[in-house]
Amino acid sequence: MGPTSALETLRKGLITPEEIRRLAEEKGYTIVAHNYQIPELQQIADYIGDSLQLARLVTSIPSMKILFLGVDFMAEMMKVLNPEKKIIVPVRYSTCPMANSLTVEMVIEAKQKYRAPFVIYVNSKTEAKAYADVVCTSANAVDVVSKIDSDIVLFGPDKNLASYVAEKTGKKIIPIPGEKGYCYVHNYVKEEELKRIIAQHPNAKIMAHPEVPNNVRKLAHFVGSTSQMEKYPATTDAKEFIVVTEVGMIAKLEKLYPERKFIPVSSMVCYNMKKNTLKNTYLALLEEKYEILVDEDIAQKARRAVEKMLELTR
Ligand code: 13P
Ligand code: SF4
Repeated sequence: MGPTSALETLRKGLITPEEIRRLAEEKGYTIVAHNYQIPELQQIADYIGDSLQLARLVTSIPSMKILFLGVDFMAEMMKVLNPEKKIIVPVRYSTCPMANSLTVEMVIEAKQKYRAPFVIYVNSKTEAKAYADVVCTSANAVDVVSKIDSDIVLFGPDKNLASYVAEKTGKKIIPIPGEKGYCYVHNYVKEEELKRIIAQHPNAKIMAHPEVPNNVRKLAHFVGSTSQMEKYPATTDAKEFIVVTEVGMIAKLEKLYPERKFIPVSSMVCYNMKKNTLKNTYLALLEEKYEILVDEDIAQKARRAVEKMLELTR
């Protein structure tokens, strides 16, 4: 399609999922989307998953051009693990406030003060990862911390995940930056709100992301990352599930288990994830921007922290 017909598509608002797929194929892009993307974008993706899962998957596919739909730390993680590939995103500043709450200086200061290893959640800035010791995901945080050779562990930025890990491992976990490290989508879920939904669906199983506060987590039958949540329904005969994480997860679960019912907590919307739309995705492919670039020195150090995680969890 020439530039005129592309402009025509934009002007007439004809941006359909099919048109985006056609353009991606014409330009040679593989579309990779996080589980929290809107259903229309999940529909056009070649792959959907959690951030680290996707970054590692990109390593295993031949495609050299990737359009990523998620937030910036995830796109950077993809670039860190695939420096030779071109990674583009539709929005330049689709960021994660929790990731941004942990600065490099905080990591360095905490390590100097406590003389303990720093386990950094993948939801963090690339620069901060470069100065930490090991990366973890919400799926393997407990495993990583239990295997690290220290009874005192610095952990950031998510204080709720830190508290979950402390409970599961029995180790002394020091959350950095502390009270200010949380995800606004998960942290503000109220116990009363969840109890109201439970009362309406008394037979439903409750699955919750470990980024929720302790009192909410305690109500869940299953606690896990988005990739672990995907597997949970297959382990039970339950017909209904209350999904205590970002609402985008519902579309993914419905596709995987069309005969089951998934109930969202409707207040759980990540506005940063929702900045990606059909229109800006189409424009990203058309103009092949915005490209993600990471300083090679930082990338190399961050890669070391990821490799340490892989080594520990092998
Ligand atoms: P997952 O790694 O479980 O997909 O979580 C990503 C995220 O942003 C949670 O808020
Ligand atoms: Fe960040 Fe929370 Fe959005 Fe995940 S859901 S990207 S942790 S703000």
